[in-house]
Amino acid sequence: MGLTTNFIGLKLKNSVFVASGIAGFGEEYSDLFDINKLGGFITKTVTLLPRKGNSLPRIVETTSGMINSIGLENPGVDAFIEDKLPFLRKNLKIPVIVSIGGETAEELVSVVRKLNGVEVISAIELNLSCPNIKSARKYFISQDKELAYKTIRAIRKVTKFPLIAKLSPAVTDITEIAQVSKNAGADAVALINSFPAMFFSKDRAPVFGGLSGPVIKPMALKMIYEVSRKVKIPIMGVGGITSVKDAMDFFAAGSSVIAVGSCMFKNPKLPIEIIKGLSKNGKQD
Ligand SMILES: Cc1cc2nc3c(=O)[nH]c(=O)nc-3n(C[C@H](O)[C@H](O)[C@H](O)COP(=O)(O)O)c2cc1C
Repeated sequence: MGLTTNFIGLKLKNSVFVASGIAGFGEEYSDLFDINKLGGFITKTVTLLPRKGNSLPRIVETTSGMINSIGLENPGVDAFIEDKLPFLRKNLKIPVIVSIGGETAEELVSVVRKLNGVEVISAIELNLSCPNIKSARKYFISQDKELAYKTIRAIRKVTKFPLIAKLSPAVTDITEIAQVSKNAGADAVALINSFPAMFFSKDRAPVFGGLSGPVIKPMALKMIYEVSRKVKIPIMGVGGITSVKDAMDFFAAGSSVIAVGSCMFKNPKLPIEIIKGLSKNGKQD
């Protein structure tokens, strides 16, 4: 049975992506598996200016998961276009989704304006939920309904790219934020980003970051299930996917497509194994 699907106007050969921040800008993972076997590729989040990211420690393993405190390290949008896009343009035959981040609507609009018209890009994912920027405001854009609406609306007005709003799970009712995202012009939502969490460094300094991996899968499933029943918007399901069965659970909960995240650090070939498994299990078009 075929795995091809249509998601936000993109024709995909299957419904499996790699989540933002997991495989950088493609080059880093191209030796580990054939990226062109994926349905599509999502880049690491890019911001207006370069970011060095947080100091070490940045990653810790937890029971059934991990906490990362990368701090959105990236070269900035200009260097991304100059240095990273050529690899994607040359090597990727699948849709490329660029993830962008910023602390204000204005910043995000500036990033989008620079990406407008770049022909290798198929869609933009708005990271409205990165939980590990030290200097940032006390809440994320997608934790505030009005701010989320204003931000997505402002971006919708300046670009024709399909928009995926990636939401933070750290809210009382995810369906409200998903509805607001749709009203503001998002074409899809990505559920979920990592959960705000912390660990202690060796000298007992608190390190704030995002919890991901199998531990968050049940929460991700519940949020996807709730949004799929209340809001008419396509969902990209993300959060602790480790197997074909997990992937099937995400589709059953209401995801149109899925993205594999931190479990790729253990098994970089996981998305390929999932694609093969879905095809055997008869995932429908
Ligand atoms: C090391 C690391 C870096 C990440 N960087 C980003 C990022 O740049 N932008 C983003 O939207 N999400 C980022 N995420 C979140 C993932 O895309 C994903 O939403 C989250 O980890 C939940 O999925 P998982 O449990 O399968 O990892 C990152 C996650 C990890 C583990």
